[in-house]
Amino acid sequence: MPTRKPLIAGNWKMYKTVSEAFETADKLVQLVKDVDQAEVMIAPPFTALAPVFAAVQGTNVALGAQNLYWEAEGAYTGEISTSMLRSTGCTHVIIGHSERRQYFGETDESVNKKVKAAVAAGLIPVMCVGESEQERDDNKTFSVLDKQVKIGLEGLSLEDAATLVIAYEPIWAIGTGKTATKEQAQEVHRYLREWIEKNYSADLADAIRILYGGSVKPDNVTALMAQPDVDGALVGGASLDADTFSQIAKF
Ligand code: PGA
Repeated sequence: MPTRKPLIAGNWKMYKTVSEAFETADKLVQLVKDVDQAEVMIAPPFTALAPVFAAVQGTNVALGAQNLYWEAEGAYTGEISTSMLRSTGCTHVIIGHSERRQYFGETDESVNKKVKAAVAAGLIPVMCVGESEQERDDNKTFSVLDKQVKIGLEGLSLEDAATLVIAYEPIWAIGTGKTATKEQAQEVHRYLREWIEKNYSADLADAIRILYGGSVKPDNVTALMAQPDVDGALVGGASLDADTFSQIAKF
């Protein structure tokens, strides 16, 4: 039997000032303090990482970032390195979110560099993959995912991949209120787990956490989490409110 502890992660995207972020995190910590069935993580914007850490430090809520740059330091105006993230108290980092791919030129190749940099720095990468509506309609879902994981994980050793988390986020389900059905999610999660088994090992496939993301809400999380290959959720809109997000964490 797999012993995967679910991960419920909140992606706050470009929302919340420092004080708003602190208040939400502070409230969330109280609401989920007895949650033991899942790990909880929140990823505020960069500006709120250090203040949110002050609220979550020593609690069961982990801190994640939404992006990173792979160079250690240098003349890269506007970018943030892994050691900068570590210095705020970050333990996780979301990489390759579809919004970054769509609006900020993120590619499978840059995702690969970022995943490697995260692993090298001891940060847990949450690598996002997912197909567009057109790709699904054209029956290209699995070939798109195959390319995303193949390039995204290229050169990553079995040892490097030990902490990896994959988030399956169908683009058509993000922020649209249109969730993948539990059957659609399960089918893709199984495919990804088998991909890991084929390309890494059965043990890693058994241990790796594959999150579902895309309009996860308190009223659909239970059915999704009941699927054998769904090991958690990456939550956008519904993670902004501490009450709502804590209900999801208590699925
Ligand atoms: P959503 O976003 O929950 O608002 O659909 C999910 C995500 O983008 O990670």
